[in-house]
Amino acid sequence: MDKTRHDSLGLEHTSSCNAWSLTISALESSVADHLQCPRSIPARLPSPSFQPPYPGFSVRFPQDVSQLVIAIVGSQHRPSVSPTSVAVSTSHAAISSFLASTRPSTPPSFVEWASVTDNRGYYNLCALAYWDGKSSYESWASSSGFKAWWDGLDADADSQDDDLDQGPGWFLEILSPTTDRFETLFNTDSAREGSSHFAGACMSSAVQEHGYWGSMRDRIPLSQTDVLSANNTRLPSPSQLTDSNADHRKKRITIPRHRNLAIIRSGQDWSTTTPEERKLYLQTMHPILQKGMDFLQNHGKEEVGCYSCRFMHVLDSETEKTDRTFGLAYFDELASLERWSKEHETHLAIFGGFFRYAQQLGNNVTLRVFHEVMVLEEGQQFFEYVGCHGDTGMLASRG
Ligand code: HEM
Repeated sequence: MDKTRHDSLGLEHTSSCNAWSLTISALESSVADHLQCPRSIPARLPSPSFQPPYPGFSVRFPQDVSQLVIAIVGSQHRPSVSPTSVAVSTSHAAISSFLASTRPSTPPSFVEWASVTDNRGYYNLCALAYWDGKSSYESWASSSGFKAWWDGLDADADSQDDDLDQGPGWFLEILSPTTDRFETLFNTDSAREGSSHFAGACMSSAVQEHGYWGSMRDRIPLSQTDVLSANNTRLPSPSQLTDSNADHRKKRITIPRHRNLAIIRSGQDWSTTTPEERKLYLQTMHPILQKGMDFLQNHGKEEVGCYSCRFMHVLDSETEKTDRTFGLAYFDELASLERWSKEHETHLAIFGGFFRYAQQLGNNVTLRVFHEVMVLEEGQQFFEYVGCHGDTGMLASRG
């Protein structure tokens, strides 16, 4: 007879769900040895001998990597501009020319292109570029000519204003967490995403800190000694434009820095699934996920502390969509992200849907999911927008 039990995520299992009760003998901590320290803040781990009900893995960086940089560089095109237009292609070429430049000695370790049409109908195209150190990023930005190009963009000339030029808006979002403010979780150790492309990076063995609410926090090394709260303190950026009543579409706007801003990039890859699983994913999971991302985009700020959410499609050429997506969301603090994932019906639907999906596949899931989460202090973030509409990225955090 099946025995019903509830695990740390509140999921109901029966003893016939064999794959969920597999024993993982050699669990390691998601927090790398050199980042472990005596805790002044208790972990959320249910018990020291806790065994997650399914395996999860984290990226390990070489010890000399203490900070990473993720630069999100994009163009924004008004609804009348087709994603396949010359205008979009020209923007892609402009950004690519810096990322692919052979001049810099420190090119990005990894670049990925992605796009989304936002809730105002604007097409946003961007590159996500990763460096394994801030000095590498800075050296690339100046030697490739990117910095000079970015600083020289003319907000008026490139405005989205209907009466002016038809040029795109531009955005630059630089996330540079130290490794003690960064965590990853993958459902497989064979996938490579984002920061796992760094030279010398590898995947951990199965980690202990997952499979319970609060495990994301436990995986962030600094949470051992810091509650990572925002306290709602916003510090002005050196070049901040304070005229919030002005038409942002004609402006270059630098966003005030937020204490302990929490960012998640949560990815899904169904490119290697069987035809049966692919169909199931697209018919069941993808719509629920879209609904959750729509909620965060349209109501996140007022209801759950999410300033911005883009549900992006990864591209393999200028416009060609792959079988990979990710949600990129900016929350006012980690506690808000935790609350949304644990309590809000939209993530609970995604989460519950996933376990039903797994059950339908007899727990033989080949869908790959991962996330990268970071909590940024003031000096580890830079958000600047040139001629973008007012709901773009962190522009939405104003007012
Ligand atoms: C198909 C898509 C998704 C699936 C299947 C999924 C499923 C899950 C699962 C199974 C967990 C528990 C992981 C563990 O600890 O072992 C989890 C945690 C979490 N998910 Fe999702 N999720 C998806 C998309 C997203 C997206 C797009 C976001 C945010 C933009 C998100 C935010 C979170 C957060 C923050 C946690 C950690 C909660 C904590 O440990 O406190 N998820 N999700």
